[in-house]
Amino acid sequence: MATLVAGIDSSTQSCKVVIRDAETGALVRSGSAKHPEGTEVNPQAWWDAFLEAVEAAGGLNDVAAAAVGGQQHGMVALDARGQVIRDALLWNDTRSAEAAAQLIDEYGGEVAGKAAWARMVGSVPVPSLTVTKLRWLADAEPENARRVAAVALPHDWLTWKISGSRNVADLITDRSEVSGTGYYDTVAGQYRHDLLAAALRIREDQARQIVLPRVASANQAVGTGDPARGWGGLVLGPGGGDNAMGALGIGMGTGDVSVSIGTSGVVAATSPLPVQDPTGMITGFASATGEFLPLAVTLNGSRVLDGACRMLGVDHDQLAELALAAEPGANGLTMIPYLEGERTPNLPHATGSFVGLSLASMNPHDVARAAVEGLLCLLAEGLEAMTGMGVPVNSIQLIGGAAKNPAVQQIAPAIFEREILVPEPGEYVADGAALQAAWVLAGSDTAPQWTASRVTSFTAEPTRFVRERYAQRQHLFTERP
Ligand code: XUL
Repeated sequence: MATLVAGIDSSTQSCKVVIRDAETGALVRSGSAKHPEGTEVNPQAWWDAFLEAVEAAGGLNDVAAAAVGGQQHGMVALDARGQVIRDALLWNDTRSAEAAAQLIDEYGGEVAGKAAWARMVGSVPVPSLTVTKLRWLADAEPENARRVAAVALPHDWLTWKISGSRNVADLITDRSEVSGTGYYDTVAGQYRHDLLAAALRIREDQARQIVLPRVASANQAVGTGDPARGWGGLVLGPGGGDNAMGALGIGMGTGDVSVSIGTSGVVAATSPLPVQDPTGMITGFASATGEFLPLAVTLNGSRVLDGACRMLGVDHDQLAELALAAEPGANGLTMIPYLEGERTPNLPHATGSFVGLSLASMNPHDVARAAVEGLLCLLAEGLEAMTGMGVPVNSIQLIGGAAKNPAVQQIAPAIFEREILVPEPGEYVADGAALQAAWVLAGSDTAPQWTASRVTSFTAEPTRFVRERYAQRQHLFTERP
């Protein structure tokens, strides 16, 4: 009988489970379940959705190993008994914007402070990073902050729940996830308790009493599933952040870049060297293979298209038809897609805008085109920042929910001014986690090779004027009242 491995993607909107043949990677079964809406979620909801998705995937009793990929950065604060202290604040919750600004200020301000953070932890604080959420907790909910005995991130917490442990000392994470906390030096491979202390406004010796998950290496077995649930024979891998697991799932190597349009928009590259961007456009995260995974992450991803569909009263196929029937440049209409504020560039309180409305452009085709072009221009700015940091870009793969949209596929090469490769739709984060589980079982130095998915290539005439106009207009937004 084939040896089976499970990959779990506990993402912002849902939990997905894939069960694959460890040897060939063939998909055997899968299941999924929804997460609640909102940027503040009781982690119990992730556990319930995980159990539902596992059941839909036919259970784990015949599975040899599993690993979890999860939405990054979310703050899961635990007390000494391992109980969740308050609802987790997710990566896309912007209430810690002021905390992020304070932390930059306290280390030297706009220029020196940002450079210091990039040097210390690879990334400049933005509201997504866990360190800013802890500062928010210390100031807004001091009672809760005083009870913090351990801090986990969503995937660490879920792996720990699967193991059945209730002891916070058993929490385990990996490099890719911990590199997104803002209190871990990814280059030195060490927690920065001084930064944790600064965030929580406590002394460093007090911060050292707070349990932070042990950082496991990429292919290390970190324990087994909960025997009480019949999972005692299930070997657990360390898992990782969803972007790192996705990169593993599509087999990214040096020079490969992915542009993922899911709830967030993410431009990711694997790099053998750390990236420290003092402007904060690029984060210096780690990959799930021992390298680095610089990212440009936007808060606005596929939901820009959801919003455009709602506005026009159409579905996603119709939106694509409308956008593709319009001329490039949408008759002078530009959409600035800061619909949920924005993270890259760091504008947590911004709202979106349509700029350049005229009688010629005020029609469904141009509105649809402007929405697609605006979303892609936002991501293209991230790619430009990435190349500006010297990260090599040899190929671009487009993944995530919105990569299925024909307008996104056909307009992306015009905006990025490059060939775009679109792998067949798949659950790449869950697949990467499944591959990690197979890797842990194999105990080899490098990850096993599964058959790569088929890719379709898209090319188009570059439309530089659309980018240029976007660049001129992107500051024309208003702030949330
Ligand atoms: C990465 C980030 C998002 C989440 C989405 O820094 O915040 O991509 O990981 O789940």
